[in-house]
Amino acid sequence: MRLLFATSEIFPIIKTGGLADVSGALPTALFATGLDIQIVLPAYRGILATCESPHLLGSLQVFHDIRCDIYQTTLPGTQIPLLLIDYPELYDREGGPYHHPQYGEWQDNALRFGVLSKVAALLAMPNDLQVWQPDVIHCNDWQTGLTPYYLRQMGSKTRSVFSIHNLAFQGNFHADWRHRLTLDEQDFKSEGYEFFGHVSFMKAGLYYADALSTVSPTYAKEIQTEQFGFGFQGLLRYRSADLTGILNGIDTHVWDPATDAYLPVHYSVKKMRCKKEVKHALQTELGLALNADAPLLGVVSRLTHQKGLDMLATIAHQLLDNGCQLAVLGSGEPALEQQYQTLMQLYPGQVSVTIGYNEPLSHRIMAGTDIFVMPSRFEPCGLNQMYGLRYGTIPVVANTGGLADSVHGGVLNAEGKVPAKMTGFVMPYHNPWTLLVTLRQAIAIFANSGQWLQLQKQAMRQDVSWETRAKHYQKLYETLFPGG
Ligand code: ADP
Ligand code: GLC
Repeated sequence: MRLLFATSEIFPIIKTGGLADVSGALPTALFATGLDIQIVLPAYRGILATCESPHLLGSLQVFHDIRCDIYQTTLPGTQIPLLLIDYPELYDREGGPYHHPQYGEWQDNALRFGVLSKVAALLAMPNDLQVWQPDVIHCNDWQTGLTPYYLRQMGSKTRSVFSIHNLAFQGNFHADWRHRLTLDEQDFKSEGYEFFGHVSFMKAGLYYADALSTVSPTYAKEIQTEQFGFGFQGLLRYRSADLTGILNGIDTHVWDPATDAYLPVHYSVKKMRCKKEVKHALQTELGLALNADAPLLGVVSRLTHQKGLDMLATIAHQLLDNGCQLAVLGSGEPALEQQYQTLMQLYPGQVSVTIGYNEPLSHRIMAGTDIFVMPSRFEPCGLNQMYGLRYGTIPVVANTGGLADSVHGGVLNAEGKVPAKMTGFVMPYHNPWTLLVTLRQAIAIFANSGQWLQLQKQAMRQDVSWETRAKHYQKLYETLFPGG
């Protein structure tokens, strides 16, 4: 079977969040099993110049006035073929894949990702490029939501899987875009790509894909409810037989405390002493007091409503007044950024806040802190809690989505022992006071070095790799293309 993986971001080339991590690691795990796989991505600024010997395959007529060159290279560090869509007018820009450097989202995102969606579908049609046509296309999030629609519009036999990484981002655009994107008028209806009077890329993916998946079993259930469905719960319930939740894994080579190039010292389950040195180095780097016994809490996150970090800001004083330290790295809503910066001013030497995106520092925070805090209101999967497990940085998480599926909470048993399966702490309710209580439970165990070490070892031994999870995707592809 030949699989095309369509995505708008991919680590290590271009990343704004977890989608990039998954787009890098899942195809790598699938390729390792021998699956014939290629990836397609827009050639954002600088990518063609930095990728290994890109080779022009030819061009595709996408819309009547848009013809794109298609280059082939490989995903850095792998042999996986990577197809890049070169259309400078849409992609060769300063700024992020979705955002202008200053003024919010790109105004022509409908066209930019309409082109990505259409190119993925065109690769499945007879064309002049010297590449195979896929049997299955794996689409990811709204940016590739129109691919399943275009496949049907063009009468392709290629099947599609549409993966929901975050239902909150839907790609809904003004109804007029349907003309520019050559979507058929007759499908602009609720049994089609229309969503509350808009053209919706997410809706098209959910409606037209042959199979749907999302990134954890719990989120697969949650999105069928009003609370988490963002208006799509009815459609998702209707399609529930086609919807699977497969928990993400992580790239255990990129995220490995025994080899991580961003760390000053390496450690492993058998050499935990050295994690203390990483903590010491992090405290030095961030200007925190050099206190080995102070519980150091870590946050690496988009600072948005989804992530629930306003709750941590609300209760932070009570933790800090009791001697905790806090290291935050993130960016997002200005009011939340400001709240954390104020905390840093109020607690010098105890709170460090870095506003911005910083890959090396994210690794050092993951390794050098003791407890990783992730009280998300909803979390389709979440990767940081799994990086925390891998680094022996114990996650304290909300009971939702992939957080609930990947962190095994618990309390000490009657003999004061850490239960065998416990790898972190899960908040039973979602409010600031429960977060405080749960963090205090974690801090109480942290104070007992024997119990804490046991918990760290259990966390580090939990399987968070893609190897087992990629097999679930393979099975899913096989249901669409039996015997392939
Ligand atoms: P989401 O994709 O919803 O933001 P995930 O937990 O799935 O959440 O993935 C977030 C990814 O982005 C992780 O790899 C995390 O380390 C990274 N990340 C988030 N914010 C930052 C930041 N400010 N600097 C560096 N990496 C970050
Ligand atoms: C989204 C979700 C996050 C998930 C990631 C990768 O960004 O918000 O929970 O881990 O996609 O699937």
